Amino acid sequence: MKPRRLVYEGKAKILYEGPEPGTLVQYFKDDTTAFDATKKAVLEGKGVLNNRISEFVMSRLSEIGVPTHFIRRLNMREQLIKEVEIIPLEVVVRNVAAGSLSKRLGIEEGTPLPRSMIEFYYKNDALHDPLVTEEHITGFNWASPQEIDDIVALAIRINDFLSGLFLGIGIKLVDFKVEFGRLWENEFMRVVLADEISPDSCRLWDTKTGEKMDKDRFRRDLGGVTEAYAEVARRLGILNDQTSGDRKGPVLVK
Ligand code: TMP
Ligand code: ASP
Repeated sequence: MKPRRLVYEGKAKILYEGPEPGTLVQYFKDDTTAFDATKKAVLEGKGVLNNRISEFVMSRLSEIGVPTHFIRRLNMREQLIKEVEIIPLEVVVRNVAAGSLSKRLGIEEGTPLPRSMIEFYYKNDALHDPLVTEEHITGFNWASPQEIDDIVALAIRINDFLSGLFLGIGIKLVDFKVEFGRLWENEFMRVVLADEISPDSCRLWDTKTGEKMDKDRFRRDLGGVTEAYAEVARRLGILNDQTSGDRKGPVLVK
């Protein structure tokens, strides 16, 4: 068997050439980084959990008509996706003040925001993903005004849907980051949701205890990172419900 062609290797995922033109295989690594990869660890099982959680979330979003790059999960760590041209923006949607917003503007973490807020960051590690405005985005041709409109409309729909989905399982969706790509269908181009949606890219707080169930556990050295991701998966109905403390690790359904 000839080895697959590696198309791109990021910090937490690898993209390989897919079985058909226009497709890619997205592989979820256990590697975890924060603060521009100055902090690193390998968290066993994290990739498997994120593959499943992202599959679940992308599938539910697709059902409500949000276009995504996701085609299907292939195995424990891989999913088949449509090849898109990534728009170089990290789109952050916030419902509650936390993280960089709290730091930059001095708003106490946990303060509910008067309305959901959308921020754009330019995807560029060397520049540390700086916050940018629509003027920058259109002025430097990272995206067109029409694409920004599409991105904002999709980001709001994703936020509304996911806020409800997580609330239903006792989790507050504090904020999240999404990326979008251009998908060409003949001469037409559409903006679609790409990358992943997982506890690596969201802030998820238990509604009762306020406990963090996301990558902040790693960023802030709180421990129990994969356990928290597994709990998110369990509440989403992806993992077998196991209550005893004797489990050796997440047991995946199907
Ligand atoms: P922030 O408060 O650090 O700006 O993060 C906002 C959200 O974006 C949070 O849910 C974590 C997510 N995020 C990423 O997915 N990747 C990143 O590189 C950063 C900085 C944040
Ligand atoms: N993933 C980013 C990094 O490794 C940052 C983060 O999520 O905190 O730099």
